[in-house]
Amino acid sequence: MGPLSRTGFPTSQKNRWESHQHKKTRKVRPLGIRESTWEAKEVPPKNTGKDAESNVSQNKQIFSENEAKKEATLFVVTSGKGGVGKTTLSVNLSVELASRGLRTMLVDADLGLANAHILMGVRPTLTLTDYLEDRCSVSEILAEGPCGLKLISGGQGIKEMADLDATGRGRILDAILDLRSYADVIIIDTGAGVSSTVTDFVEAADQTIVVTNANFTAIANAYGIIKVVIQDGYDQPIHLVVNRARSPEEAEQVCEKLTGCTQKFLEIEISYLGLVPEDPRVNRAIQKRTPFTQLFPDSTASQYMRKLVDHVEKLSVQKVKT
Ligand SMILES: Nc1ncnc2c1ncn2[C@@H]1O[C@H](COP(=O)(O)OP(=O)(O)OP(=O)(O)O)[C@@H](O)[C@H]1O
Ligand SMILES: [Mg+2]
Repeated sequence: MGPLSRTGFPTSQKNRWESHQHKKTRKVRPLGIRESTWEAKEVPPKNTGKDAESNVSQNKQIFSENEAKKEATLFVVTSGKGGVGKTTLSVNLSVELASRGLRTMLVDADLGLANAHILMGVRPTLTLTDYLEDRCSVSEILAEGPCGLKLISGGQGIKEMADLDATGRGRILDAILDLRSYADVIIIDTGAGVSSTVTDFVEAADQTIVVTNANFTAIANAYGIIKVVIQDGYDQPIHLVVNRARSPEEAEQVCEKLTGCTQKFLEIEISYLGLVPEDPRVNRAIQKRTPFTQLFPDSTASQYMRKLVDHVEKLSVQKVKT
């Protein structure tokens, strides 16, 4: 591995981005599913993935040389405002990708306040804190989630992780990059806002997914994070997900507002990846520590989620081909 940049990212990799300075064609895509009702029936979960304890031995097998084939596409899920649904989206996106047979890793990079494991009923025995304090290797952190998903947890209730310096963040990014050969897709769930604990992960990503809801402050802050990363030189595709949408039309309006602003003030196009409807079953699934796509696969939220995952799957395949 070559010398490291400020974020700990290899400079050779950064040069690859710098050579891609051409303007992206980011287009607003039409919505997939249109339904007159959000109703659907409740069904039992498929796989709640509660076997975290046996992970270390399993991971030794996962990391056999035969598994090291192509590099994973790195998606980062972020937002300007907190609580808009990043973790809910990241968990359900990752589990759905894994259920489709893609080797999927979810990195919970909401350092110090990691909670993705709770949403999928996993109890990680080790977290990134143990890795940073040299108690284990990164492969030993991987916890087994539903459908064979691998989870790296950022540690919960740990102030030192929330205040992590550039060196620590660089070590985490290095570790993620080392894992790229062992996965098809890596999803990184970040915290909210425009601090370096968020933007460093965006900087490393092949594709960025910005989550917002229809609230004015959430849209304004979504624009804020996009503006910051663009001004920092990020030139990879940026996609938008509208969560908690009360109708497809509302999501389209949110998207139009944001794309209007990014075109006018930043001169970039962002693409519309899709919506997740407002649905009380999302919260019920969280309380049952099961992804809603597994607990309520027939719900409209799950249908929209699968449409969204179709797009993400295509984006990850595109990366593999280049
Ligand atoms: N589509 C939805 N329908 C209904 N409620 C939802 C939906 N998505 C998320 N929620 C609710 O919003 C809450 C916050 O979601 P989540 O934890 O995913 O947000 P976040 O952006 O990751 O938050 P943070 O910025 O704190 O990390 C959830 O606990 C859930 O109750
Ligand atoms: Mg979160």
